[in-house]
Amino acid sequence: MTLDLEAIEQAAAMLRGARLVAVLTGAGISKESGVPTFRDVMSGLWAQYDPQQLATPSAFRKDPKLVWDWYAWRRELLAKVAPNPGHYALAALESLVPEVAVITQNVDGLHRAAGSTDVIELHGNLSRNKCFANCQGDPTYVAPEAALPPVDDMPPRCPHCESYLRPDVVWFGEALPGAAIARAAAVSRQAEVMLVVGTSGVVQPAAALPDYALRAGARIIDVNVQPDAITALADVFLQGPAGEVLPRLVEVMRHR
Ligand code: APR
Repeated sequence: MTLDLEAIEQAAAMLRGARLVAVLTGAGISKESGVPTFRDVMSGLWAQYDPQQLATPSAFRKDPKLVWDWYAWRRELLAKVAPNPGHYALAALESLVPEVAVITQNVDGLHRAAGSTDVIELHGNLSRNKCFANCQGDPTYVAPEAALPPVDDMPPRCPHCESYLRPDVVWFGEALPGAAIARAAAVSRQAEVMLVVGTSGVVQPAAALPDYALRAGARIIDVNVQPDAITALADVFLQGPAGEVLPRLVEVMRHR
């Protein structure tokens, strides 16, 4: 696919003029890192399950070991992936505009791994655990060394209340972390430019953020391999893989 250089120049000019850039990312940015999709994590032993039946509080209550083991498998898969040039380009953007806030729907931690310093995780992070009862307040994070070790192959337990630990990710039917969604909404309203990357723009409430930005007067740049729900709102649509488009965008910003 050939990149539209004129559109990249236009996007670079918008970004150069901004004081605060809000970046909203979805699964598409991690695609070129090979981050496993829900389909991939339902392979092998897990093929007989449906993620909607595993990634829920009631599934965990019913069978904590099953859900914990599925996440252990997902963590193993994730341990093998690394940030791609798209993640690195977003980190590099921090040296080109005064302020960049990355709002992500991904739980893979790859933005921080690439060096982005202000990352708002709307759906949590697979590498962290918290107490299932959130006994010390929501969220009660528990570091691996503080956890009560697993007994009989069950999940480790909270050192405060002995509830099982669970991954710190948003499950089906759960609310998004309040502080993260509040900050994401505020940043979306304050930014002069919102750069949307690799999200289908259909999963709420993240999908509403570009609307907030637009209504507050921001320009929208959309990066996706194909037109999506955001494209119609965008001032510039950069069609192509994020791992190619974003490094090019940063390069143009550096040299003009
Ligand atoms: N570069 C840019 N965009 C890409 C690339 C790529 N290399 N590959 C795919 N895309 C685009 C797709 O065209 C699609 O629009 O990324 C988008 C991915 O969409 P979804 O799979 O719906 O992911 P996302 O928008 O993050 O979904 C939100 O839904 O499944 C839940 O919790 C999950 O966080 C996820 C949320």
